[in-house]
Amino acid sequence: MKGIILAGGAGSRLYPMTRVMTKQLQSVYDKPLIYYPLSILMLGGIKDILLITTPDDQPLFKKLLGDGSQFGIHLTYKIQEKPNGLPEAFVLGEDFIGDDHVCLILGDNLFYGDLDFFRKAIESQKNKENSLHGRVFAYYVADPSAYGVVEFDKETKKVKSIEEKPAKPKSNYAVPGLYLFDNTVAKRAKSLKPSPRGETEIVDLILSYHHEDKLGVEMMYRGLAWLDTGTPRSLLDAAAFIGAIEERQGLKVACLEEVAYRMKFINLEQLQQITASLPKCSYRSYLEKIISEEL
Ligand code: TTP
Repeated sequence: MKGIILAGGAGSRLYPMTRVMTKQLQSVYDKPLIYYPLSILMLGGIKDILLITTPDDQPLFKKLLGDGSQFGIHLTYKIQEKPNGLPEAFVLGEDFIGDDHVCLILGDNLFYGDLDFFRKAIESQKNKENSLHGRVFAYYVADPSAYGVVEFDKETKKVKSIEEKPAKPKSNYAVPGLYLFDNTVAKRAKSLKPSPRGETEIVDLILSYHHEDKLGVEMMYRGLAWLDTGTPRSLLDAAAFIGAIEERQGLKVACLEEVAYRMKFINLEQLQQITASLPKCSYRSYLEKIISEEL
């Protein structure tokens, strides 16, 4: 299973914050936003990850994350010249995906909670005998009109419709920015036509699997948190949420060095070396505490 993080886009709703600093490098409490979606892929056991950015921002992401070896992962980079739509991630990532399955996560999406649903979805997606070739999730939100919206048949519980940003949503179930597809996805993405807003739409890609009966939509239950960070208010809410959890537990969300260690992507000695290279700060003290508990 390969992973792609789509971290380009215009970030226009966050202007002027995004005039010089892209959305995915803005801070969410105590770390850059990009740490959160990257940690989700790592927690899913995905080590081979493509990071897609705008041309201007690529050097900044490279400065922050490098080739990923400090986290025991392999990061490669690709440029998206213009925000032509989410499906373009698969066109740009075609060679990277090769014969594998792929998980796309949006660079501004934040998930928190027991990620078993995600690990199970990855496991069954990897199983070649499984007849599902595409898999997305459905999460209940108060206002789904800014997202893809899934309507389920009341009796059969099967997907009845999926609509992109509907003015009148047929349900409260939004599709979060986390998608699993087989390796036909690049071919499908290439055949999509731009919508009236000039972008190809992820919903059209999802529908191409649905029309062939190859789509699974799994419930992301309410005990999980799914936040996006596209507006000043949602960015503030995400920071407050992470701050509350971290201060209460004394545990960090999306500390990549910790995730890498707990996933056994790096060993204790590597964690010690990385920690020793960090400036004195609460992030370093946190890693020192983990190390002392492991010794
Ligand atoms: P959006 O939030 O839909 O768009 P945006 O980030 O450009 O923000 P705004 O609407 O305020 O201008 O994008 C969701 C995520 O996908 C975000 O991480 C940016 C990324 N993205 C791309 O990388 N390329 C694209 O072509 C699009 C549409 C989005």
